[in-house]
Amino acid sequence: MLRLAEVTNKDLVYDLGCGDGRIVIAAAKDFGARGVGVDVEPYWIEESRRNAKKAGVEHLTTFNVEDAMTVDLSNASVVMLYLVEWSVGKLKSIIESKAKPGARVVSYCFGPENWTPAKVESCVDVNGQTRNLYLWIT
Ligand SMILES: C[S@@+](CC[C@H](N)C(=O)[O-])C[C@H]1O[C@@H](n2cnc3c(N)ncnc32)[C@H](O)[C@@H]1O
Repeated sequence: MLRLAEVTNKDLVYDLGCGDGRIVIAAAKDFGARGVGVDVEPYWIEESRRNAKKAGVEHLTTFNVEDAMTVDLSNASVVMLYLVEWSVGKLKSIIESKAKPGARVVSYCFGPENWTPAKVESCVDVNGQTRNLYLWIT
């Protein structure tokens, strides 16, 4: 997902529904990017903070208990989504209205309807299943 978005150390990467923080941590560790992870579950935010500390990227990462639907995306240059299909659909207009023009959005498995992706790539997950990754630009 990060490679598809061509993340660099100039980016601010948001992961909406960050779980254990792996995407934001990889963005910091492997690409030198700053990142913000949000999740509605406080447990995951605590876990993300612990994982960022273990990975030595606390200074580049921020994790907040927040709803993806209401988060401020005005400074995001990259947005990552690994959510259920209806959430991706709902977030389409929210991201369009909140993120600046030119922000790169990558969604795992589900692309938004009526929104033409700039690129679709497939990958094989740990269970051997082929999954699509969708890139679009706001
Ligand atoms: C499939 S997991 C993805 C976790 C992580 N991004 C990854 O790649 O491993 C989806 C996460 O989204 C969170 N989530 C679901 N709806 C959300 C919402 N409206 N706002 C913020 N987080 C949400 C869940 O708590 C869960 O941790």
